[in-house]
Amino acid sequence: MKRVAYLQFSPRLGEAEANRKRLAELLAGRHADVIVLPELAVSGYALTPDLLARTAEPAEGPTAEMLTALARSTGAHYVCGIAERADGAHYNSAVLVGPRGLVSVYRKLHLFGFEFELFAPGAQAPRVVEAAGMRLGLMICFDWIFPETMRCLALAGAQLVCHPANLVLPHCPEAMITRCLENRVFAVTANRIGDESRDGTELYFIGSSQLVTPAGEVRGRADVDEETFHLAEINPDEADDKTLSSGNDLFAERRPELYGRLLD
Ligand code: ACM
Repeated sequence: MKRVAYLQFSPRLGEAEANRKRLAELLAGRHADVIVLPELAVSGYALTPDLLARTAEPAEGPTAEMLTALARSTGAHYVCGIAERADGAHYNSAVLVGPRGLVSVYRKLHLFGFEFELFAPGAQAPRVVEAAGMRLGLMICFDWIFPETMRCLALAGAQLVCHPANLVLPHCPEAMITRCLENRVFAVTANRIGDESRDGTELYFIGSSQLVTPAGEVRGRADVDEETFHLAEINPDEADDKTLSSGNDLFAERRPELYGRLLD
């Protein structure tokens, strides 16, 4: 069995140092195999180009350092959203960090609304990483609405999809039930709470972080506005069984020879 968790909280826009300190406080002494934190958990979401420049960091930067130090005392692996600076560009990224430091970086493929003004979209196909004794897939927030993202992760063998989010639309928590059911994988969505404004538009984050099982069961959905840490035990091997109770094997019965349009 593995212990997986999410932390739902409210980062302060543009205050990277304060947010890192807060994360370190909230996570101190929290033991789990994998802990998922929200998207852009260190920078805040409604960034201007100026705030982005001030809060962006390399993947092996101060947030990875802080999480590595934490991991050395808790044994956990962390998935945390950061504004990443690399090769003269910015990415909306998630770092996977464990006791030995940075393990992997995922750059969000599907940007949402104003994010196109700030970030370059990731250019690497979704891939699976072995860590904490599991096969982990990473995706970020709006990636959920493109079912191909999670399908690619599941086909690559992911058992647990780690999904940092800053959700503002209401649909994702329910949609993730279908994503897990159709791919027979576990997923932890770690969303944030609170609100921010950008160019006069108010953004209200919907909380509702959750763990969903391959059977589509929601285990521990958070409220819309509570700061909370939620831990659950899972057996990741359940995600290797792609059969439904009807006896259908959802992967063996796919008809990829008829799905060519998906590659257009
Ligand atoms: C989102 O992708 N942060 C809505």
